[in-house]
Amino acid sequence: MRDISENDRAIQRWLQVCLVLVFAMIILGGVTRLTDSGLSMVTWHPTGMLPPLDTKQWLVEFERYQQYPEFQKLNSDMTLDGFKSIYWFEYSHRMLGRLIGVVFLLPFIYFWLRKMIKPGLTPRLMIMFVLGGLQGLLGWYMVKSGLVSNPHVSQYRLSAHLLSAILIYGFILWTIFNLVTTREYRRLAESSVAGWRKLSLGLVILVLITIVSGGFVAGLKAGLIFNTFPLMGGKLIPEGIGALSPWYLNPLENMVTVQFNHRWLAMITGIILIIWYIRGRSHFEATMLQRSFKLVGMMIIIQLALGIATLLMQVPVLLGALHQAGALLLFSALLFNLHALSRV
Ligand code: HEM
Repeated sequence: MRDISENDRAIQRWLQVCLVLVFAMIILGGVTRLTDSGLSMVTWHPTGMLPPLDTKQWLVEFERYQQYPEFQKLNSDMTLDGFKSIYWFEYSHRMLGRLIGVVFLLPFIYFWLRKMIKPGLTPRLMIMFVLGGLQGLLGWYMVKSGLVSNPHVSQYRLSAHLLSAILIYGFILWTIFNLVTTREYRRLAESSVAGWRKLSLGLVILVLITIVSGGFVAGLKAGLIFNTFPLMGGKLIPEGIGALSPWYLNPLENMVTVQFNHRWLAMITGIILIIWYIRGRSHFEATMLQRSFKLVGMMIIIQLALGIATLLMQVPVLLGALHQAGALLLFSALLFNLHALSRV
């Protein structure tokens, strides 16, 4: 049974649409990376919208790309048709970003003019909009890191871009949860859930750290080596794990260490979340809480399976994208769990 005003319901629906678009944006960004399309557009015009419309314009765009090391060092045999196929991914990613801006801004102005936004929510929505704009800027900062003599996007900037996208997604999701007050949330004595709530917040942070470690694997293309599980090169602790000097560069720049860290951090996260699910389900009776623990349990199993399959099959585009979507859904399940625990 829901307890929500008409205005809040309209705002909730609008934010849900934005959330779905942000979800799609993150996955499309992943596909752009997985298909090596991310460096095809070598300029950034925040207000420019149109793609090349005729052969002449395509040739101009292709010639621009040819000035950059990715073409010169990796793709020198690329044809115009090959260029078009990578261009469309990057173009769609950028256009979807702009579409989200419009889908966010126009209804926001409408709701604001009609005074439909409840007190306290307007600043939150404005922050969301600004963060979305900054995300575009960070995206271009990331792309620029690959338009240099070594044509690979920096794993630091890629992880930062991924993390900030996921935080924006989480911010919208949390705001939606806040709008839906369900009567099913059961009142429990504050002290009996305080510990659960703190642990739940800790788990959200743990999953975010695992996600960032995944960003490093993606950024360094470290999923293309050691495609076996659980051993790496026949060993539990693979050779080359501490090859870089000074030592602290290894978890950031050594492909072997980065992959090792991600797979084992994910497994530890997985074990903790499965215990969390088992304990939570037997401890709480409220439907909403039961549901949230079930979702966490289901998503972690799916995500671990997707991660292992992605690794074993050497990162095919579909599995890479599904693994990224799985990370987002796991994060969503945990936020739902934290929110449900914050309401009891
Ligand atoms: C809690 C569980 C896990 C989470 C939250 C998680 C999250 C992520 C994220 C966010 C990425 C980056 C995706 C991108 O930017 O496109 C990634 C990449 C990757 N993960 Fe995981 N992961 C988990 C478990 C695993 C496991 C168990 C394995 C394998 C043993 C694994 C293997 C990989 C590989 C190979 C990549 C690189 C894929 C690529 O290049 O696109 N992951 N992970």
